[in-house]
Parts: sequence; structure tokens; C-alpha cells
Amino acid sequence: MNILHIDCSSRPESHSRRLSAAIVKKLLEVAPGASISRRDFASAPLPHASPDYETALSSPATLAAPPRGALELSEVLIQEVEAADVIVIGTPMNNLTVPSVLKAWIDQILRAGRTFMSTPSGKVGMFRDRPVFIGIASGGVFTGDRANQPDFLTPYLSVVLGSIGLKTLQFLSVQATAFLDRDQATLARDKALATTDFMVMGEGHLYD
Ligand SMILES: Cc1cc2nc3c(=O)[nH]c(=O)nc-3n(C[C@H](O)[C@H](O)[C@H](O)COP(=O)(O)O)c2cc1C
Repeated sequence: MNILHIDCSSRPESHSRRLSAAIVKKLLEVAPGASISRRDFASAPLPHASPDYETALSSPATLAAPPRGALELSEVLIQEVEAADVIVIGTPMNNLTVPSVLKAWIDQILRAGRTFMSTPSGKVGMFRDRPVFIGIASGGVFTGDRANQPDFLTPYLSVVLGSIGLKTLQFLSVQATAFLDRDQATLARDKALATTDFMVMGEGHLYD
């Protein structure tokens, strides 16, 4: 079993990093022998889409005959997802949605004819489904009665990952980080972990 562990925050004291690390720890309790592939978009950010990549994706003809090397990074990142049985993403909420470092990854892994088919009724995913755990940190509140902002992060990730076949998503969050002391942050993280089903790892379909 392989866990692809992605982090996005550049803060040393990051709540989303602590949350994603705690998720991985829980998964290792369920699957002690699992290996971990790491992508840290803070220490090694992906480039924005290059001119050659944008050209390749601009039409079916250019996708079929892309500029030399244009799809190399995309292919590496897609193969990392294919090699993963479970994906863990730690991310801040930035301006109501995902940070640009995570968007840069999404821009590389959604590719017509490779990870989704474009049909008249929309995208049809080509990845086999696998669990994705998304640990979110937000300075304010985006769920429940105390929400003080709209949430474009969780619906966006649900649609975009769903469009390539990743439909088994679980969102965990530590919210109002702007106002939490260390103990409150730990409590919020433990509460998020307690309401999460990590046993999806053990249900057998991962080993198909
Ligand atoms: C550029 C930027 C935009 C942000 N936008 C939001 C936002 O829209 N909503 C929110 O609740 N917090 C926002 N925050 C606060 C972060 O979500 C919060 O500090 C979070 O804890 C950062 O994640 P981390 O603790 O993993 O570093 C923003 C922070 C930055 C730097």
C-alpha cells in the first residue's frame, strides 16, 4: 500500500501540516506496512503551466501531438496518483479556496484523454477511485452556524477530483486558526480525526 502525502502550507507552525501528518499517522495504524510518497509544494512548488503545456492542452490535435516534453511533468504527477492507494492532502484555505500551489498540481493532473474523457455531458474520470483525505486549516470559519465566509474549497475539490474519478473524499478541518491557542488547536484536530473513517483503507478494494 502506498500513501501519497501532499502538503501546501509554507508556515512552520502550519495547522494543515499537523493535520495531514496526523491523518497519515492514523492510516499507518490501519496499514502499518504502507509506504509514503511525499510532495511538499511549499519547499518544492510546481511551476505554473508552461507555454508548451498550455499549447498541448489547447486542442485535441495538439494533445495528440504535443510539443516535445510538454507533458513530462504532468505524466510524472499522474503516475504518482496512479501508484497511490490513498491520497492525503494538507492545505490552507486561501481566499476561500485552494492555494495556488495546490491548483498548480490540479492543473497538471487533469488532462483530457489521460485522466478524464470529455463527453457532451461533462468529464468522465479515468482514475480508479481511491480514498482522498483532505486536511484543511482556515483562519476563519466556513462551516456551521458560525460560518463567516463562503466555502469554495470543498465543493471545488469535490468536483475537480471527482471529474477524474476520485470520488471517495473525506474533508477534515481545523477552523478559526487565527483565534486558537495550541491546546485549542490540538482539540480541534483531535475532534476532526475522531469523526473520520480511516477504515476505508481496510475494506479490501484498495488491493484490487
Ligand atoms: C493569502 C491568504 C489568504 C487567506 N484566505 C483565507 C480565507 O479566505 N479564509 C480563511 O478562513 N482564512 C484565510 N487565510 C488564513 C489561513 O487559512 C490560515 O492562516 C491557515 O491556518 C493557514 O494554514 P496553515 O496553518 O496550514 O499554514 C488566508 C491566509 C493567507 C496567507
